[in-house]
Amino acid sequence: MDLADLTRDLEALRDDALGSITASGDVAELDALEVDILGKKGRLTTVLRGIGALPADDRPRVGAVANSVRGAIEAAFAERGAMLRAAALTGRLALETVDVTTPGRPIRRGSLHPSIEAMAQIAEIFGQFGFVVYESPEIEDDLTNFQMLNIPPDHPARDLWDTLYLDVEGRLLRTHTSPGQIHVMRATPPPIRAILPGRCFRYEAIDASHATEFFQVEGLMVDEGTTMADLKGLLDQFARAMYGADKKTRFRPGYYPFTEPSVAFDIDCLVCGGPGCPACGRTGWMTILGAGMVHPVVLQYGGLDPERYQGFAFGMGPERIKMLKHGITDIRLFLEDDLRFLDQFR
Ligand code: PHE
Repeated sequence: MDLADLTRDLEALRDDALGSITASGDVAELDALEVDILGKKGRLTTVLRGIGALPADDRPRVGAVANSVRGAIEAAFAERGAMLRAAALTGRLALETVDVTTPGRPIRRGSLHPSIEAMAQIAEIFGQFGFVVYESPEIEDDLTNFQMLNIPPDHPARDLWDTLYLDVEGRLLRTHTSPGQIHVMRATPPPIRAILPGRCFRYEAIDASHATEFFQVEGLMVDEGTTMADLKGLLDQFARAMYGADKKTRFRPGYYPFTEPSVAFDIDCLVCGGPGCPACGRTGWMTILGAGMVHPVVLQYGGLDPERYQGFAFGMGPERIKMLKHGITDIRLFLEDDLRFLDQFR
C-alpha cells in the first residue's frame, strides 16, 4: 500500500459515504450509517490503519487528506441529520394535530324527575315567604293520618282516602301529607311556616288522573292572628310565581275535615282562558289545590291552644301542578320510567 493507493481509498470511501448519506431515509438509518463509517471499528478507521505502513514522509500528507475526508463526511452527516430530524418533526406534528375547534362529545347528564322538580319549585316559591321544608314519615298510624286530623274511625270522609294498610297492626301508608301537620306542630313552637313534600299512597283504581302512588306538598302556617286573607294572598303569589303574573285566581268552597272553612283554589284555565273548553270542563277555571283554616281540633292535637293560635294549611299534587303547566293529560306518565316522557324535562 502506498500513498496513492491510500489516498484513492480515502476518496473512494468519501464518495461512497456521501452517496449513502444522501440516500439515507430516516434518522435511525443515518445513525447506523454513522457508526458504520465513523465509529471506532468503522470503515474510515480501517482505512486509516494503513497509514502506519507508509514511509514517515508520506504520513503527514495522507493525514491532511484523511482530515479533509473526515470533515466532509461529518459535515454531510450533520446536514443530512438536521434535515431528517426536521422532516420527522414536521411529520409528527402533522400526525398529532389536535383540532381544537372540533365540537366535544356531548355528556349525557341526568335530570330531576318532573315530580321532584315540581316539588323543588314549589318549595322554592314558598321559601321566599319564609317557609321551611320538613319531612314526615311515609308510614303512619290511623291516629295521625286520620283521627288527629278530625277524621274519626267511622267518619264518611274516610271514603275520600282509600287506604293501604300494612300487616303491622295500626300501621298504614299515609294517604296524604296532612299528618305532617301534627308532627310539625308537635316539634316546633309557633310561628310555624312549613312545607312538607312527600310520597303518598292510595288504594285507587288507576286511571289518567288517579295513581296509587303520587306526591303531595303540604303547607302549614300557624301563628297568632293568622287569617284567611293571609292564605289567599299567599296562594295568589304562589299561583303567579308558578303560572305567570297575569293569572286570575279564585277561592271556591270546599270540604276537608281538618280545615274549617275549607276551600278549593282555582286559577283561570291555562288552555282556554274562558268558558267552552274541555280542559277545564267549560268553567274557565282549574283547581290546583285544596286549603283552609286549620280546624281547632287539629291545633289541639298538635298541642296548641286554638284560642291563642290560628293557622292555615294547603295541600297540592306536584304532578297535577306540572300537568296543568305543560298540558300533560295522564298522571301515569309520572310513574312509568319512559324516557320519551322524562327527556322532555331536561
Ligand atoms: N290532604 C288533602 C288531600 O289529600 C289536601 C289538603 C291539605 C286540604 C291541607 C286542605 C289542607 O286531598
